Amino acid sequence: MMHLAGANGGGRKMPQPPVNAGQEQFWDADAGPIWVRNMRAMDVCLAPVLSLVLDKAALRAGEDVLDIGCGGGTSSFAAATAVGPTGSVLGADISKTLLAEARKRTEDANTRFVDADAQTYGFPPAGFDVMISRFGVMFFDDPVAAFRNMAGAMRPQGRIVFAAWGAIPANPYFILPASVAKAYLGPTPKSDPDAPGPFAFRDPDKVCQILADAGFVDPQCDVVNTTLTPEGGADGFAELAMQIGPAPGALDHFNATPAQHDALKVRIADAAQAYVSGGAMFVPAEINVFSAQVA
Ligand SMILES: C[S@@+](CC[C@H](N)C(=O)[O-])C[C@H]1O[C@@H](n2cnc3c(N)ncnc32)[C@H](O)[C@@H]1O
Repeated sequence: MMHLAGANGGGRKMPQPPVNAGQEQFWDADAGPIWVRNMRAMDVCLAPVLSLVLDKAALRAGEDVLDIGCGGGTSSFAAATAVGPTGSVLGADISKTLLAEARKRTEDANTRFVDADAQTYGFPPAGFDVMISRFGVMFFDDPVAAFRNMAGAMRPQGRIVFAAWGAIPANPYFILPASVAKAYLGPTPKSDPDAPGPFAFRDPDKVCQILADAGFVDPQCDVVNTTLTPEGGADGFAELAMQIGPAPGALDHFNATPAQHDALKVRIADAAQAYVSGGAMFVPAEINVFSAQVA
């Protein structure tokens, strides 16, 4: 077990160049409070993705785990259960808002959290056996630099496993609210899916090359078709979609009235009925599960 000394988990905070400033602002001030409010619902919805990461990582008792972009800590706590009291987990995130939520849930000798930009933070060198992430690594200004920094935190033969969203058309979680909002409110300016954001890692070859350039060996991607499980059926999905994902951006763009908010929510819930069966909702999803090793 690695000893995680100090509130920052034993790492040294290096002077940081101003990278990822936009993402820090977004996850701290804009999206952070919304994620905190919806954490339980998001965790229910994204539970199948966490299972994919943990199954692939096959954590063993006594391992030291680094959880990148840990958000409110759900994946960190799950990893801590897997490695047991002789192991440890350090959850790292750029958002103080989300970290505060994680720390509220618990922080003890084996599960710690650190305020860290994964691209630049001075993690303890060779301090971890495994790096995991659920949707926390697609937001770097410079992904090669970020993964190289993480590689330095891994022990020889260490392994990384992380999940990212796959092809855009295969993910109704995003395209359903986006297309309903477009039909109702109108088109919004096109965003660049290759920029840091949820779909930046949708191309397996591109990401495997990033991992290789960062010094990892044997990078692989399992493209997994699964189903997400939002609670509350179509209405629960619409409630979430009005707060997280493309709909809030469209509402902001059109300076939508409260009546338009309500109408869009009803329209999203109606469209979501396509994925309801027996009162529960099953949203098809394509998830890229990446893995690689340290030499
Ligand atoms: C989509 S959320 C996922 C959160 C969490 N892993 C989960 O599944 O609930 C993305 C997370 O990545 C974090 N993040 C974004 N850029 C980061 C960076 N450069 N370093 C560390 N964390 C970052 C965000 O603050 C946010 O918590």
